[in-house]
Amino acid sequence: MKYRIKIGRTVFANPVLAASGTFGFGLKFPGVANRIGGIVTKGITVEPREGSPLPRIYEFPGGILNSVGLENPGVRRFRKEILPELRRLKCRVIVNIAGFSIDEFIELVDGLDYKRVDGFELNLSCPNVKNGGVTFGQSPRMVERITKAVRKSTNKTLIVKLTGNFIDPLKTAKAAEQGGADAVCLINTLFGMALDESGRHFLGGRTGGISGPCLKPFALFCVERVASKMTIPVIGCGGIMSGMDAIDFLSAGATMVQVGTASLVNPKASLAVWQALGDWCRRHEVKDWEDIVGRTKRQD
Ligand SMILES: Cc1cc2nc3c(=O)[nH]c(=O)nc-3n(C[C@H](O)[C@H](O)[C@H](O)COP(=O)(O)O)c2cc1C
Repeated sequence: MKYRIKIGRTVFANPVLAASGTFGFGLKFPGVANRIGGIVTKGITVEPREGSPLPRIYEFPGGILNSVGLENPGVRRFRKEILPELRRLKCRVIVNIAGFSIDEFIELVDGLDYKRVDGFELNLSCPNVKNGGVTFGQSPRMVERITKAVRKSTNKTLIVKLTGNFIDPLKTAKAAEQGGADAVCLINTLFGMALDESGRHFLGGRTGGISGPCLKPFALFCVERVASKMTIPVIGCGGIMSGMDAIDFLSAGATMVQVGTASLVNPKASLAVWQALGDWCRRHEVKDWEDIVGRTKRQD
């Protein structure tokens, strides 16, 4: 069976990607990065960011809560110091970009117009500072505007990463499609918080994003809700820890998957997911991805 998958202009060797913020820039584990479909880098902003105060991670039985606060070197240092290093990797590299205004998204895309960058994933979880501070990803109108503006600036593969926080992702997915995205990825972390014994916020950033196994049922629901109504592919993300989790996302309609928190537990997790997925397909004599992708709906 052929595992290659094309999204936008990018051909991925297989359907498993390392999710943004959970695999750095892929440079510490080239043996993993080069054998999965590709990596999505940690989120890059125009200016460098120190991120949230410590502690940044809270563990609970179903997953984790993080408030990393988009710590990153900023686009100029990324270009100068990290991009040349990324040339050592053979896999596809999608750069996750986060802007605080449409102009910043454009600046990021323009500043990263290099061959080694295969595409962009738009992280829409920042507040829109020029428009009342509402998070971009919670407004279908803004999602469409940003996607359109970025689409005009680049021919590279464009993935829009959507949230399930207080918005129907079908509305924002449709807006991304309308704006010219090549794919949507769902979902990003969900809002959450944790308290310590004295009733204070546990995380330095006070609130954070929930990820890990507890996210999977909701993420799966979102993927099924969106996938059959779209003409562009859906990339599933949220709580994928095993090959079977990945099969579930494909069955619900995802064309590709991203592995996040699992990589924090075991840096080889994304490769393990891909290997288990491949084994499952061989055991079940799957001839074509299309036999699995969206099969849940076909069996209803
Ligand atoms: C520590 C950490 C940092 C993250 N950083 C980013 C980021 O910079 N940009 C982004 O779009 N998503 C970021 N995410 C979200 C993940 O890419 C993913 O969408 C989410 O964690 C759900 O998948 P999972 O349950 O497999 O982790 C981050 C997640 C974690 C746990």
